[in-house]
Amino acid sequence: MSLTAVILAAGQGTRMKSRWPKVLHPVLGEAMVRWVVRAAQAAGAQRCVVVVGVGAEAVRAELADLAHVDFATQVEQRGTGDALKAALPVLDPSRDERLLVLCGDVPLIDPEELKQLAGSLAERPAAVLTFEAPEPGGYGRMLRNAEGLVSGIVEAKDASPEQLAITEVNSGTYAFETRFVLNNLDRLTTQNAQGEFYLTDLIAFSEGAVGLCTPHPERLEGANDRAGLAALNASARDWVNGQHMANGVGMEDPHRIWIGPRVCIGSDSFLESDTRLMGETVLGEQVHVHQGCQLRDSTVGDGSVLHPYSVLEEAKVGAGCSVGPYGRLRPAAELQDGAKIGNFVEVKKAVLGPGAKANHLAYIGDASVGAGANVGAGTITCNYDGANKHKTEIGEGSFIGSNSTLVAPVQIQDQAYVAAGSVITMEVPEDALGVGRTRQRNIKGWVSRKAPKKDK
Ligand code: UD1
Ligand code: MG
Repeated sequence: MSLTAVILAAGQGTRMKSRWPKVLHPVLGEAMVRWVVRAAQAAGAQRCVVVVGVGAEAVRAELADLAHVDFATQVEQRGTGDALKAALPVLDPSRDERLLVLCGDVPLIDPEELKQLAGSLAERPAAVLTFEAPEPGGYGRMLRNAEGLVSGIVEAKDASPEQLAITEVNSGTYAFETRFVLNNLDRLTTQNAQGEFYLTDLIAFSEGAVGLCTPHPERLEGANDRAGLAALNASARDWVNGQHMANGVGMEDPHRIWIGPRVCIGSDSFLESDTRLMGETVLGEQVHVHQGCQLRDSTVGDGSVLHPYSVLEEAKVGAGCSVGPYGRLRPAAELQDGAKIGNFVEVKKAVLGPGAKANHLAYIGDASVGAGANVGAGTITCNYDGANKHKTEIGEGSFIGSNSTLVAPVQIQDQAYVAAGSVITMEVPEDALGVGRTRQRNIKGWVSRKAPKKDK
């Protein structure tokens, strides 16, 4: 048996008042539709078919890096039933295929519940995930028969006053046997208040679908406008942060910490407020992240400290390191164990070996810095000649005096020194002092003879 997810994502989401389709708006830094694809895959879907329409190219581009994702196009948005119809050509009944049908704008959907939903196809050819809504508003109302199966779903706009009073509502999340869908989709009509093909009518055709009522309605929240999206972000944040805290991660104020869904954090790490950890970021154990740090796709080893307002992108920090305040690690920056960068130090495509230090105001780009080397305040690697990038190599245990300018390509060998204020344009051999500056001279009596004096 195979499991395929069809993700409905062709709608505009007019109330977002955006040039982008709704499913591309981010929750915790990731487009809503990505969350849905990930949940479907976690539930065991071998393949996702995303139905695109409004902004189709942008949705395809957003998902282009994901494996096992296919697309189907719904040319005109004629309802959820019509959207599922658009996916028919890529479905495969021959393999006893089962379908999950999901909304692209319900990002927090729980993979465990999707598994359960697919599992209930053992009983009936259709199943639907529902929830209790004290204020059911525009949601479709669930009709149940004497056996407790779902006999139909009535849209709010089509409902009688008695039906409107029903508080069990449709989440828009379904499981079907592909064969059942193929046999019944043509029966949908547009004879309803909205003149649309309603996917929900398939449930009535099943003559009794399984209705799973979730105890976690907050996981089925969608967003229709910007305020709804902000609320969705807040509940996603609370949920993600709650999981990390349950795993032993400390947080100063969990309402002021934003962590993306793919981030991993070891226990006894502590996050101060206004930190953002996004992408595939991984923190080890006992990492302390101070106020205002932002990390994307970066790893930080055990016991390291990120001082306030440091920014890391695609960077690797070993164990026992220290960064910032105001440290900046750009892509392919690597600090090996015990290395340290201090305030206003920028590192890009460069490795600092174990215990190496650059404590103040430096730019280290396209470089390697050996173990235990010390890069003085104000040191700059001149890596770019206006056309190409060149490498600076600084050996182990070497010492670069303050305000040095290292013009790449250039090598400072192990245990070498560079005199402060030097412009280094050629190799400094091991054990040598490189001096690249004019010698100081003092002119005696110059001040009384020559210094400018104020006019009387
Ligand atoms: C639908 C359900 C309703 C349920 C609600 C849950 C129907 C008829 N009604 O209503 O019972 O309570 O979801 O949120 O299905 N889409 C397309 N193409 C279309 C129309 C919609 O791809 O032509 C996509 C949208 O992008 C969205 C999803 O289908 O991801 C749901 O569409 P939406 O318009 O929000 O459905 P509702 O009217 O809210
Ligand atoms: Mg909706």
